[in-house]
Amino acid sequence: MSIRLDRREFFMGVACAGTAAAAATHSTMSGFSVPPMKRIRIAFIGIGDRGSAAVRRVCRIPGCEVEVLCDLRKEAVDANQGWLKKNCISKAAKRFYSGSNECWKGACDDSGVDLVYVAVPAYLHARIELYAMNAGKHVLVEVPAANTIDDCWNIVETSERTRRHCMMLENCCYGQDELLAWNLCHQGVLGSLSHAEGAYIHNLTERQLENSFRNRNRPKKSSLHGNSYPTHPLGPICLYLDVNRGDRMDTIVSVSSGNFTWKDYIAETFGPNDWQTKMEVDRGDINTSIIKTARGRTIMLQRDFTTPRPYSRINLVQGSRGCFWGYGWPARLAVARKPGGEIGKEWMSQAEYDEYAEKYRHPLWKSVGEIAKKVGGHGGMDFIMDIRWAYCLQNGLPLDMDVYDLASWSSIVECSRNSDLAGGVPVELPDFTRGAWKTAKPRVIGNVDLAKMGFNLSAPIKKKDDAQLDV
Ligand SMILES: NC(=O)c1ccc[n+]([C@@H]2O[C@H](COP(=O)([O-])OP(=O)(O)OC[C@H]3O[C@@H](n4cnc5c(N)ncnc54)[C@H](O)[C@@H]3O)[C@@H](O)[C@H]2O)c1
Repeated sequence: MSIRLDRREFFMGVACAGTAAAAATHSTMSGFSVPPMKRIRIAFIGIGDRGSAAVRRVCRIPGCEVEVLCDLRKEAVDANQGWLKKNCISKAAKRFYSGSNECWKGACDDSGVDLVYVAVPAYLHARIELYAMNAGKHVLVEVPAANTIDDCWNIVETSERTRRHCMMLENCCYGQDELLAWNLCHQGVLGSLSHAEGAYIHNLTERQLENSFRNRNRPKKSSLHGNSYPTHPLGPICLYLDVNRGDRMDTIVSVSSGNFTWKDYIAETFGPNDWQTKMEVDRGDINTSIIKTARGRTIMLQRDFTTPRPYSRINLVQGSRGCFWGYGWPARLAVARKPGGEIGKEWMSQAEYDEYAEKYRHPLWKSVGEIAKKVGGHGGMDFIMDIRWAYCLQNGLPLDMDVYDLASWSSIVECSRNSDLAGGVPVELPDFTRGAWKTAKPRVIGNVDLAKMGFNLSAPIKKKDDAQLDV
């Protein structure tokens, strides 16, 4: 017995079951590309921590122009323009929008903009994505791209109707370990894949208490049940398992632990009689979900913002021939001689692992890794992501992640919450491809040609400046 939440599919089923009209209204965005864009004129919307870091990275990519800066706070616009003038005068922005809650509409309507790069608080993402695509702009948006299933469907349908890219900036898909794992999966080293595990374990307890601008802009209830921040671990896993390209996420069960750490933390911080200690907060320390795919694979996903545990995304993928488990150091690998072959109790030695890591290093990390590490952004993966979408747009290629990835990964926010609230019952996950996952072409995360992009490879690579925000 599972809960079906996919209102859109239900309504469509009633309205147009079995008619050719239903299929005709949707032209797939899987494999979609636009003619090469040599210049990409960009509006940055939301230039707080994350958006400012993006401005600093993207301005280094030849052909990417910082056309517009937009933020509710004028001081954020001024600070970013000041940085550009000091460090990269040729890329200083030309127009500015700030000062009102809907200032982003000006940036989306700006006729000199091709693409909007959205890094506002998550609850605003969907509104801006929809408005921007309707204004004819391509969209790159921070994570998660939407918080509800209805918004996910609206974004999919708007992208299909307007023929605009809408890609979620899931930077973890470009991590060195994640792209190595992707390569191991796609070169057959791990055999037939059966299972993966991922997590966002990030001890942010004290930051959650801060009365910071960041927190004031977050809807307070968003993280209370289920997994409100699923895409960092889930994105790479979906790329390993070819979700939306040969498989799809079918059902989820989600449960949360009790609220122990937050309670103890508040009591010790404010004392037993403080109102904050007495307030009941219905938030579990750790949320765990299990997703089952249509082809019968399983994904274990965790969210934990509170407990004192070192940061981890787990990042494990299991196949019939072997297993990769790696977030940061030490990553681990076990490979059997034949499917199911016994491998004993040890992971392979560091020397053997290094040989595999070198042999299967993703081409993007081979060609851009050194530059990316210097420019920064989570160890370089953010810059690799930016170079890759810019290269795809400049060369008329499909983007690595499409609107179906955006929707299916983001839909976990609402579906996990509903399963958790109902005590962990299975909840059906929407098929945003409407069956096209069965025939969609495989995804190819290819390389970039830095010389062709106009990077001057003989010039010394500028180290990341002190103001680079690694968020
Ligand atoms: N991919 C990652 O690794 C990563 C890391 C951190 C945050 N994020 C995501 O990035 C987004 C931004 O996070 P952040 O940490 O930079 O937050 P932040 O609060 O530092 O920045 C948000 C900015 O949006 C602006 N803003 C708020 N309302 C606005 C409006 N109506 N119009 C225009 N601007 C508005 C704020 O003034 C602020 O400058 C969030 O969605 C978050 O989930 C992603």
